[in-house]
Amino acid sequence: MKKTVAIYPGSFDPPTIGHLNIVQRGAQIFDQVVVAVSQSTSKKYLFSTDERVAIWKKLLQGIPGASAESFGGLLVDYVEKKGTNIILRGLRNVTDFEYEIQMAITNRALKPKIETVFIMTEGTYSHLAASLIKEIVMMGGKVKGMVPPLVEKELQKKLRNK
Ligand code: PNS
Repeated sequence: MKKTVAIYPGSFDPPTIGHLNIVQRGAQIFDQVVVAVSQSTSKKYLFSTDERVAIWKKLLQGIPGASAESFGGLLVDYVEKKGTNIILRGLRNVTDFEYEIQMAITNRALKPKIETVFIMTEGTYSHLAASLIKEIVMMGGKVKGMVPPLVEKELQKKLRNK
């Protein structure tokens, strides 16, 4: 039987508990979920591409079918290269929806076979955003319960060295 492979792309700077929840639930639907960490050069990230991939690899231990790697260039080209047509994204609110619908339609305009599948966030995670989490840590606040414990440690380490 053909295996279903979903690509879960994002910046993940850093991954939150909400991102991890989407992978866990995606792995119940698809045979494989590939977390695709964006290498975009136009955005400034706190964690390097390699660091974000390394964090994901640790987070994904124990989730069968889940893996992580980085990608550059157009997402639709990468998805095709991985032999699939499925993009997985999480949705938290209407602001996400407006951004997501634009990307989903643009990706289909680029490659009509592409399908974007959305998983609604767990209600308790709908407020989580990587940008706010970084700001909280930078200002000495606690992000316990917002990111996996491993990410919390990595954030503290990174900001201590800044
Ligand atoms: O976590 P983010 O920052 O919302 O993820 C955005 C991401 C990485 C999925 C998007 O910027 C992307 O697909 N980048 C790759 C370049 C590309 O294909 N751009 C056209 C998107 S319609």
